Amino acid sequence: MGALETFGWEWGSALIRWLHVIAAIAWIGGSFFFMHLDASLRKQAKDDPALAGTSWQVHGGGFYEMRKYLLAPPSLPEHLIWHKWQSYWTWMSGFALLCWVYYGQSQLYLIDPAVMALEPWQAAAIGIVALALGWLVDAFLCRSPLGDNEPLLAVVGFGYVVATSWVFTQFFSGRGALIHTGALMATIMTANVFFVIMPNQRKSVAALMAGQKPDPKWVKSSKVRSTHNNYITLPVLFLMLSNHYPSTYSNARVIPAIVTCIIVAGALVRYFYNVWHLDHDHAPWWAWAAAAAAILCAFGFAATASPGMRSLMGLADLPAETASLDQPKAPQEVVDIVQTRCMMCHAAQPMDWIGEAPKGVLLDTPEHIARFAAAIRQQAVLTHAMPPNNFSQMTDDERKTLARWLGVETAQN
Ligand code: HEC
Repeated sequence: MGALETFGWEWGSALIRWLHVIAAIAWIGGSFFFMHLDASLRKQAKDDPALAGTSWQVHGGGFYEMRKYLLAPPSLPEHLIWHKWQSYWTWMSGFALLCWVYYGQSQLYLIDPAVMALEPWQAAAIGIVALALGWLVDAFLCRSPLGDNEPLLAVVGFGYVVATSWVFTQFFSGRGALIHTGALMATIMTANVFFVIMPNQRKSVAALMAGQKPDPKWVKSSKVRSTHNNYITLPVLFLMLSNHYPSTYSNARVIPAIVTCIIVAGALVRYFYNVWHLDHDHAPWWAWAAAAAAILCAFGFAATASPGMRSLMGLADLPAETASLDQPKAPQEVVDIVQTRCMMCHAAQPMDWIGEAPKGVLLDTPEHIARFAAAIRQQAVLTHAMPPNNFSQMTDDERKTLARWLGVETAQN
């Protein structure tokens, strides 16, 4: 891979992520706004009976009078604004980012040969099939008899997500497993909008135009899906950010436990706000304490599963390195440089203020160094991002040695 190509991958990733974050702000912001608006509606005795309530708001120097009609407003205006593209754009840009980072550069981020030596196309196929399957299972569950029992439906759906996160850890790197769990939940959210909420809304509008009453079944199934989306939102956001924090994903066997805690914590916080917006006096403040306990559990799982932390806490010795013979190895002169300049941070037990090998990049053996060759080129040769602020005083000659190993031409040699 040429130097320009490496830069291209990184800029592509930055630009797609930019778009994705903007779309997600619009979507989640809009949905929080409507939840809040719904809860702020007030009804007056003299109001039109078709009116569910009115909310007066002030923003940007103007006053807004917002009214909600549950069923039939007296007439539908020409310009009816639909809120759907925020959700679609979030999913499309998110899927593009998944393809760009995790399928396009799967050797770096998705495939861990110690878990399973997949070909890039196999890894991508597993990820895409799992996302599609997630939606199908969700659709099946909601339409099954379970659909009438909302609490049970929520528990089964929750179990499915946690079980799938475990399945992901059997195929992918920890980082890949956690981001796919987030993508699975986000796909279910957008699918709820695309396949259920929007079609029902279209049917309701058509019925109103024809002077008929919309079927209450449509209203109910939309309500169930949007409640699901509401509770999923906060956990999904955490999972989307988790891939920047190695201590959340680097010990794959606790990933399902961490996912469980995060979903519980995020849903509890949403629950608090849902009630609080409606009725400040009866807000379930206990939800915050319960959410904090769940986060503490997630932290505990992450800390006690990390080999570096375990040996620091005197719980266990660092496991001996078991590298297979047929993996590519970095040459000795490179290993020497990396061990003196990088390993204080990029090891199973780094210096004590580092905690976990940053970004899951372990540079402690010739095999690991070879595995991260492309990332080392990006961070220490093409740019001088590593070591951070040249913490370990790497010399230009050492960088040239790395460049020679990585096949990078430099002006001087
Ligand atoms: C002082 C500690 C420290 C040293 C020494 C160090 N790193 Fe890092 N490294 C970090 C931290 C912290 C990060 C995470 C940066 C971030 O979050 O953007 C990181 C991230 C990385 C990444 C992943 C970048 C990414 O965004 O995916 C690579 C690759 C890397 N370092 C390689 C090296 C190499 C090669 C060396 C030696 C030449 C080195 N590091 C030396 C602390 C260190």
